[in-house]
Amino acid sequence: MKLWGGRFTKPTNELVDEYTASISFDQKLAQFDIQGSLAHVDMLAKCNIISATDAATISEGLQVVAKKIKAGEAVLSEENEDIHMNVEKLLIDEIGAVGGKLHTGRSRNDQVALDMRLYLREALVTISQLLVDVQQALYKQAQQNLDTVLPGYTHLQRAQPVLFAHHMMAYVFMFQRDVERLADSWKRVNQSPLGAGALAGTSFPIDRHYVAEKLNFDGICDNSLDAVSDRDFVVEFLSHASLISTHLSRLSEEFVQWSSAEFNFIELDDAFCTGSSMMPQKKNPDVAELVRGKTGRVYGHLIGMLTTLKGLPLAYNKDMQEDKEGMFDTVETLKGALALYAPMIETMHVKKEVMYEAVAKDYSNATDLADYLVGKDLPFREAHAVVGQVVLDCIQKQKYLLDLTLDEFKEFSPLIEQDIFDVLTPKAVVNARNVAGGTARNRVEEQLLTAEKLLEQNTNWINEHAQLIQGK
Ligand code: ARG
Repeated sequence: MKLWGGRFTKPTNELVDEYTASISFDQKLAQFDIQGSLAHVDMLAKCNIISATDAATISEGLQVVAKKIKAGEAVLSEENEDIHMNVEKLLIDEIGAVGGKLHTGRSRNDQVALDMRLYLREALVTISQLLVDVQQALYKQAQQNLDTVLPGYTHLQRAQPVLFAHHMMAYVFMFQRDVERLADSWKRVNQSPLGAGALAGTSFPIDRHYVAEKLNFDGICDNSLDAVSDRDFVVEFLSHASLISTHLSRLSEEFVQWSSAEFNFIELDDAFCTGSSMMPQKKNPDVAELVRGKTGRVYGHLIGMLTTLKGLPLAYNKDMQEDKEGMFDTVETLKGALALYAPMIETMHVKKEVMYEAVAKDYSNATDLADYLVGKDLPFREAHAVVGQVVLDCIQKQKYLLDLTLDEFKEFSPLIEQDIFDVLTPKAVVNARNVAGGTARNRVEEQLLTAEKLLEQNTNWINEHAQLIQGK
């Protein structure tokens, strides 16, 4: 007999059970479901809706059920549809009919919204920590490469040299915004829907604030219809996750390019690469490629959730059961990628000489020749034209700017003097970008200092919120 079987005259078609059940995936919510039930039952007793004795029996029973599920000893069935009804069934099996009092003043609709929020709170903390680990790995590479110059690109054409540290720090700041976005979403996730009932609230004299406080929520959802209907907090998470994936994917693309023989700028550690079953010489950056590839499924989950919600009337609709798999998969996908990226970045070998060689053998110091002429009062547009001529001539003669003699320079502009040879070295070119946020070494060092404070701020946030979800 189903928990809701009273008004039915026939058993459910087996295919319907199979089709509508969510237990195969929502069992991931078991511990959160029980955590919520423990708070709920405590409140029911406090409000004299059930007796203290019954509440104690139910609480103990719930803890036994939790242990059994954790140990894999509980039988979770499709017949009982989802994690909520499976837990209730297991509870009744454990303690008898009194277990049936747990669901007083509650519906699966507010219950599932609660579980989703509890799950997401934990995910926010875990993913933030993993992001910080990646930030720290990038930060370390930056520290170790404050003298490493590589070509900076626009349009994937060599543009101006930059410090490798500068490049690493760009990602540190991208991931910083990701951490901040997750932290900001906390206040919208951390509202308790419990007490909204099926949609309209409940006739029992419950205390929503008491439950919310017990579970360390910041407050309660103000409107019962909204509480059970919206999954905007899931959409928001999937959107933040999509941006994290975008950032990871762009970084992945750089790793893939840089480890090719054509670039040869880095070598990823053997432990983070794989080989070919046919070509013995191959060492493939599979991890980076897969991180890049998995971006597709994360974006897919975002658009999937938005689409599921868009046509739904208030309040709860079964469609909303589709909120789970995409969210779970997104959390697992991010966890997998981030956990690998911290050590992969940390162990990455940076080929400083190759990078330097690439900068020395190109025209990425051309802007500096133009800037030099501007310093001699030539309007920038004219200086640009002169240097264009110099570069064209060099390309035809297969030379670089620093291969020219002073006399050759003077053929293009009499304003050029001996000091040009100091101005055009890669190091000088980098250090000339001495503007806040620029690639000059001292400016990159400033970025490191800024990042240090941000990382500390992140760690504090994580510690504080890790305590909250542990019920402290
Ligand atoms: N398994 C359902 C879900 O995940 C729980 C809520 C079901 N509520 C209902 N009235 N059928 O959405």
